[in-house]
Amino acid sequence: MEKQQKLYEGKAKKLYATDDPDVLWVEYSNQATAGNGAKKEQIEGKGKLNNRITSLIFALLKARGVQSHFVRQINETDQLVRRMTMFPLEIIMRNVAAGSFAKRYGVAEGTELAQPILEFCYKSDDLGDPFINDDAIVALRLATAEQLAEISRQARLINEKLTEIFQAIDVTLVDFKIEIGETSDGQILLADEITPDTCRLWGHDAAQGQIEHLDKDLFRRDLGSIIPAYEEIAARLEALAQRE
Ligand code: C5P
Repeated sequence: MEKQQKLYEGKAKKLYATDDPDVLWVEYSNQATAGNGAKKEQIEGKGKLNNRITSLIFALLKARGVQSHFVRQINETDQLVRRMTMFPLEIIMRNVAAGSFAKRYGVAEGTELAQPILEFCYKSDDLGDPFINDDAIVALRLATAEQLAEISRQARLINEKLTEIFQAIDVTLVDFKIEIGETSDGQILLADEITPDTCRLWGHDAAQGQIEHLDKDLFRRDLGSIIPAYEEIAARLEALAQRE
């Protein structure tokens, strides 16, 4: 597989064409951002950890019947994925109140929820990714009603399977963001990444009354280095993958 011209540069990844029109080359960078790019840092080792973690998660999901754009990891920082047309949506699933949800509704972080919550944001840096509901998604032609139903079905299934995966490594999956796209032949598939940049992951080792953050909140909230936490997640997922 040959890496060709750069197609897109995001906050944490670069995307290149390959000699296969259906396959793209993703390079994970060391850049960490928060607050829509307001806080930005290079963190040595982050790219390779996220590349490894998302590769493991896509493989563990596949073993549980969830397909994705992932083809294979090619080196420490790079992987191959299927080319997709993305829906301009940030698809958020929540199992425990935290982050913007806790703030919006005035509940304490860590509050148990009676059921998982599916939320959508319209992906737009200029607008700051505003919250959007199902009717507006269809009205603005961001997805058809049928596509949206399929996106929602997959998001809930992915939440179920991911919760299982993180339970198996003794981590609580508090919430996460995914992105979904469509292949040229109309298959709706999980895409982008699933990493501690895009999930809230709480360990169970914290002192009483304290949360053990194993995710990007360490960076967002200046709580310490993300690297040991990401290494811990990678090592536990690696061990789980080997047991299966
Ligand atoms: O900030 P908020 O509570 O809405 O985030 C919910 C989840 O979505 C968190 O796991 C966060 O990491 C993820 N997220 C993301 N990218 C964004 C916004 C949120 O990965 N732009």
